[in-house]
Amino acid sequence: MAERIEVLLTEEEVDKRIQEIGEQISRDYAGEKVHLVCVLKGGSFFMCELAKRITLPVSIDFMSVSSYGGDTKSSGVVRIVKDLDESLTGKHVIVVEDIVDSGRTLSYLLDMLGSRGPEDVKLCTLLDKPERRVVDVKVDYKGFEIPDEFVVGYGLDYDQKYRNLPYIGIVKFD
Ligand code: IMP
Ligand code: MG
Repeated sequence: MAERIEVLLTEEEVDKRIQEIGEQISRDYAGEKVHLVCVLKGGSFFMCELAKRITLPVSIDFMSVSSYGGDTKSSGVVRIVKDLDESLTGKHVIVVEDIVDSGRTLSYLLDMLGSRGPEDVKLCTLLDKPERRVVDVKVDYKGFEIPDEFVVGYGLDYDQKYRNLPYIGIVKFD
């Protein structure tokens, strides 16, 4: 079935908001270093843009996770497909995600990363769908709250497509 993409947030709107978050993080951690942890693949576009707008020393690392299927999915247990390269000990960690939906993945991930001895762990997400939340997750930095629609672009995919769109669009089937 062919789908069409309807613009929800333009490239200009997204860029402006990322700039604001970068400034906010730079103020909040003034005098410190921050360690950005990107959740692949979706978080990668956002993280690169965000990192460029933070005016503090920044280090980056990547991890990839996948949800277990079937019954265990509701428990929120995720499998680490690619773990971080570096230790988190003593670091100001900011997990950078594309979207928080049910909150299951992030809830699990934040607990797991928090147990690795960081100074602190915060969550920064480009998009948040609060209506869909099943597990409570504290979002420290948020780009936009969006309605319960399936969105693509800026790293988000539909069937591995559309990650490269420079804006956020809603997938429409009609
Ligand atoms: P959750 O918060 O554990 O439900 O998982 C969120 C993950 O589901 C995100 O990191 C995305 O990979 C994916 N996801 C959720 N909503 C969307 C969407 O609207 N478009 C594309 N991917 C989505
Ligand atoms: Mg993701």
